[in-house]
Amino acid sequence: MKHITYVSQAQRPMSQDDLAGLLEHSRARNLQDDITGCLVYRYNDDYDRGNFLQVLEGPEAAIDDVWRRISSDNRHHTIVIIDEGSIEERMFSNWSMGFRNLDAEDLKHAEGFSDLGSDAFWAQINEKNLSNGLELLRSFYDG
Ligand SMILES: Cc1cc2nc3c(=O)[nH]c(=O)nc-3n(C[C@H](O)[C@H](O)[C@H](O)COP(=O)(O)O)c2cc1C
Repeated sequence: MKHITYVSQAQRPMSQDDLAGLLEHSRARNLQDDITGCLVYRYNDDYDRGNFLQVLEGPEAAIDDVWRRISSDNRHHTIVIIDEGSIEERMFSNWSMGFRNLDAEDLKHAEGFSDLGSDAFWAQINEKNLSNGLELLRSFYDG
């Protein structure tokens, strides 16, 4: 199995309806394709900008295929893979695509994600210091 974790910037801020549509379609397809994972969307008021962070995991051919579609999807751009490789076990085995629309209230208590897209965020990624971020992502979902 293979996993890809990436961040990207939304083409324009996503409405609740936009997000619901995206998720509904993604979950149905992922179920068919044996893909699991988690998607986080965060709208940043200061920049009037939305960011995605997504973890995808599943059979290699299915991941390559969904990646071709996602990476050419014009709803987002500036897509940066922050981690990818083979895995033995899934992290999100129960979710065809877990989702969290993070707001500022969540982030007050979540150091690390408050920096999504900032210099500090990129520095952390460059140091491959990712495990905390993924654990945090999971804790949002479990909570
Ligand atoms: C941020 C983001 C995350 C997405 N995640 C998924 C996903 O997990 N699975 C999926 O099939 N499509 C996902 N998509 C949608 C794909 O880019 C593409 O629109 C869709 O897979 C096309 O499906 P179709 O060929 O059935 O029309 C995502 C799109 C965006 C912008």
